[in-house]
Amino acid sequence: MAYLENDVKGREEVPLFPLIFRFSQAMDCTSSSLNNHHWQVSYIAVNIARDMGFSQEQIEQIFIAALFLDIGTITLKERLKLMEFDPEVSSEHAFWGYLLLRKFPPFQNIASFIKYHHVLWREGRGMEDEGERIPFESHILHLSDRIAILIKGKQNILAKGKEIIEKIRMHEGKRFAPEIVEVFVNLSQKEKFWLDLVSPYLPEILSNMIELPYLSKKQLLEFSILLSRIVDFKSTYTASHSSGVATVAEMLGRFMGFSEKEYQLLKIAGYLHDIGKIMVPSEILEKPGKLTDYEFNLIKAHSYYTFRILEGVPNIGQIPHWAGFHHERLDGSGYPFHLDSDSLTLGSRIMAVADVFTAITEGRPYREEIPRDRTMGILVKLVQKSALDANVVGTLQEFYEEINYLKNSAQAAAIKEYMDCKKRLKKLI
Ligand SMILES: [Fe+2]
Ligand SMILES: [Fe+2]
Ligand SMILES: [Fe+2]
Repeated sequence: MAYLENDVKGREEVPLFPLIFRFSQAMDCTSSSLNNHHWQVSYIAVNIARDMGFSQEQIEQIFIAALFLDIGTITLKERLKLMEFDPEVSSEHAFWGYLLLRKFPPFQNIASFIKYHHVLWREGRGMEDEGERIPFESHILHLSDRIAILIKGKQNILAKGKEIIEKIRMHEGKRFAPEIVEVFVNLSQKEKFWLDLVSPYLPEILSNMIELPYLSKKQLLEFSILLSRIVDFKSTYTASHSSGVATVAEMLGRFMGFSEKEYQLLKIAGYLHDIGKIMVPSEILEKPGKLTDYEFNLIKAHSYYTFRILEGVPNIGQIPHWAGFHHERLDGSGYPFHLDSDSLTLGSRIMAVADVFTAITEGRPYREEIPRDRTMGILVKLVQKSALDANVVGTLQEFYEEINYLKNSAQAAAIKEYMDCKKRLKKLI
């Protein structure tokens, strides 16, 4: 598989760039009107920050904040609304993004840039008079976000540039900081600026512009938890799902003889297995009735996206396979690759069982916990149909109490974190 060729020889750490870059792009795949939005915002913001003389570290932080800018958006409706130049939206998504990102210690600053990215320049000065500090970076992100929105449309970008500048100028000193507008106007004099933004080479251009740090395996685990929260917390129904899957996968790996290094990677894969759901809006995740074909197909694509996001990340071993193949089945009846017992490794088989087991047993509002006998009955049937692996299900049966207990504890902790975030959000709004 391609990702193996990407491995950086002699390095154990995992580069942050491709992981963030690919995840952020998946966020913009839900609708064609979102195309490349986060990439475009990051291009504009980084260029402005550079021309304003920001340090390399500050530029890196602005870049990450731009790629994660609307990470806190829950519904597609809200996301599309934000693509209007004058959206009548609250900053709820900015606060939600802040609450999620601040949990990852290296992202403290980035979280606060995102928290204020819809604060208008003049309004921000008033807030500062009252003692609230609005990071200057938030104003850069605000302007970059709005410019990226004005780019959309069919008109040739070079013809449109003048109009965009005029529109931004109209709001200078009110919505946008004059000194940032000045830097933008200077940048925009070069055709290159506009052409880069709509160029099919934008990913390459961005990756040549900036380098991000590498993550140790411990940081990769923490970062995976962050990504899983971003996705799982889009719905009450899924809030603790990946925590359950990660714990079950880790335990099954341990009991089935994986080395410590391997079962830690299995745990990370568990946290990452559903990250492709970043492109599934919560209206669909939470829909009570039957899904339309369109909605069903969108959900069905999630494990494909998980795989495609992860396969471009070097030094993560089997994680793309373990995470991305969790809906594949041994008899070839799974999706999206229709792999079968010839190609599904033990780690992928474990992940499939961990996912099904967690889905069956996890709490739903108004639903009692499903007892052990019934749960095992469902899993054994799937083994008989040659969908799930007999040894993995056998191991789960043997250590059921221990695995189930640890799964429940991990899920309870995730739910507590989710409820805390909800409470804090209410206070911020
Ligand atoms: Fe936003
Ligand atoms: Fe899934
Ligand atoms: Fe799942």
